[in-house]
Amino acid sequence: MPGIWYGGDYNPEQWPPDVLAQDDELMRRAGVDTATVGVFAWASLEPEPGRYTFGWLDDALDRLHANGIRVLLATPTASPPPWFGPAHPDALPVGPDGVRLSHGSRDTYCAAAPAYRRAALRIAGRLAVRYAGHPALALWHVHNEYGTVCHCDHAAAAFRTWLRARHHDDLDELNAKWHTAFWSQGYSRWEQVLPPRATQYLPNPAQVLDFRRFWSDQLLAAFTEQRDLLRRHTPDVPVTTNVMLPSDHQTLDLWRWAREVDVVAVDHYLNATGPAGRADLAFGADLTRSFNAGRPWLLMEQATSVIYLYEQGVIAARPPGRMRSDSLGYLARGADSVLFFQWRAGPGGAELHHSAMVPHAGPDTRVFREVTELGADLRRLGELAGSTVRAQVAVLWDVEAWWAVAGRGLPSSRLRYLPALRQVHAALRRAGVVADFAHPEQDLARYRAVFAPSQYLLSDLGTQSLRRYVAGGGRLLLGCFSGVVDQRHLVRRGGWPGGLLDVVGIRVEEHLPLVDGERVALSGGAVGTLWSELLQARGAQVLADYRDGPLAGAPAVTRHAFGAGAAWYVSTVLDDVALAALLGDLLAQAGVQPELPGAGPQLEAVRRHAADGRSWLFVTNHGDTGCELAVRGVDLLTGTRADGVLRLAPGADAVLREDLPTARAAGA
Ligand code: GLA
Ligand code: GLA
Repeated sequence: MPGIWYGGDYNPEQWPPDVLAQDDELMRRAGVDTATVGVFAWASLEPEPGRYTFGWLDDALDRLHANGIRVLLATPTASPPPWFGPAHPDALPVGPDGVRLSHGSRDTYCAAAPAYRRAALRIAGRLAVRYAGHPALALWHVHNEYGTVCHCDHAAAAFRTWLRARHHDDLDELNAKWHTAFWSQGYSRWEQVLPPRATQYLPNPAQVLDFRRFWSDQLLAAFTEQRDLLRRHTPDVPVTTNVMLPSDHQTLDLWRWAREVDVVAVDHYLNATGPAGRADLAFGADLTRSFNAGRPWLLMEQATSVIYLYEQGVIAARPPGRMRSDSLGYLARGADSVLFFQWRAGPGGAELHHSAMVPHAGPDTRVFREVTELGADLRRLGELAGSTVRAQVAVLWDVEAWWAVAGRGLPSSRLRYLPALRQVHAALRRAGVVADFAHPEQDLARYRAVFAPSQYLLSDLGTQSLRRYVAGGGRLLLGCFSGVVDQRHLVRRGGWPGGLLDVVGIRVEEHLPLVDGERVALSGGAVGTLWSELLQARGAQVLADYRDGPLAGAPAVTRHAFGAGAAWYVSTVLDDVALAALLGDLLAQAGVQPELPGAGPQLEAVRRHAADGRSWLFVTNHGDTGCELAVRGVDLLTGTRADGVLRLAPGADAVLREDLPTARAAGA
């Protein structure tokens, strides 16, 4: 992938020729070199079943190619046309409550319905035949943000097939794993097994967990069959799909998905303005890089000038300069593209108030000027494409642990997965440390420290992996309410974290969740919220104990040497200050240094490395005062040399091509 790809979703089907002519000129001005075309264009390509209208897309691809723009060509299967539902009413999705949805928005299909899968393959195949060999075609963008869930009879039948494969076609095994002896749920025939549809009271958590696994696999099958079809026609064109980064829920097991795409591509919409938005950016970017096994990844969509604050129902403005700084922030953490939804704002449709590179007010705007400046910046950064980020620590990401802890009937609904991971990731970032994410079952040996903030579910394989990691010299931090259930969602009996009792040197015997607003004091001035636990130290050193409430005097935070490594256990949700102090000690013991001396809450620093030894240091000054960095190299954004000192104004970014070590030594 030469250079940094710059551009966004482009919808020529929505515009008359005079606007398209203006697009050509504006894309040149902005330095756009990439366009994602055809997402949601199914009705424009196949207005009636089997009648195709490719003329406009032929013209668009020819025109873009003539302008030097590569095309990421989408299959339009996320939005079946209006004719699809009446022709195949059984292929429209059904909610858990049994209500079948109607056409009227997008993503209205059941991915398990044979009619949908056939129609999707047919239109994808037509595109492949027609555009194989087109010089503009750089990448296939299958579908858009897979995620629609269905509970219909097709889904039920496919769920049973999946269950039979997973549980050795043995209904007794399923009954045992799901513990169906509870509440008279013992199945005597596979046909009785249903998706978790609306029911009287709490569902069976093992059934819910298996359904979520199944549905991620079901969507993945819909993706891979399109991918395989496209590959047959264009073996040299990479295939991907743009996935949504986790917000309040997560439908896909992205570790599994990442193995099936040629490059991981994500859509990231920041969840907050100000510094919290920047923490979200780093979280999303580190996650994506990790899903892509450390290789450069594609930022397929972000917004130009807005930030969605869903919980408040507000589309907030992104302040001047933030789009540039944030885009550099994604590049710092391994992206090789800056792409937006969308090139030009459309005057109608459901997203008429979404932002764009060319806003409704036109090119004579603050937004388009910033878009043009960003294009020029990215051309100066082309040399770093392909380089990678090296992290010394990892945070565990395990969507099954998330799915399990998000279930109903748990001791607390307040103990949530994503906030727990975000808190640790943000604390590492404030310590100037760049983190990867990792799966508990993977080999973790290359990390100096591993953080597992929320592993309510920890599989047998994950347990063994963490044991090996610590025994081999790793440093592990385990958060509260971890190691409680196994991969079947059966409780590990005998105390927690089951399977790691000797590693952690403690045994939790009782969970004592805290109610809203309740706080518990710990020694050393720390404060715990949301959760507490009665635990015994069995060889672990007690770093902090509870100071009030029913647990006064009992251990709260512990450390235990095991094999060549050590494991920390935190039995409550610590305040940020206490967590930072604990991480500081842990990182020091693990020998983890910040990316750059002085990196921290004010100065963000991330490095990308090339295989040939070159490196680029991305720095951002988030503070209100200027700062000085002891560095040597050339700021690619300004062309200025720093010979030992780089001064960075408040809010400023720099991307330094660092002098090679030999040059540094000669200059010293
Ligand atoms: C009721 C039911 C029990 C059990 C408890 C749990 O008493 O009869 O089966 O569900 O609630 O609170
Ligand atoms: C997603 C979709 C886009 C658009 C944006 C708007 O990322 O992929 O089509 O709807 O959201 O936020």
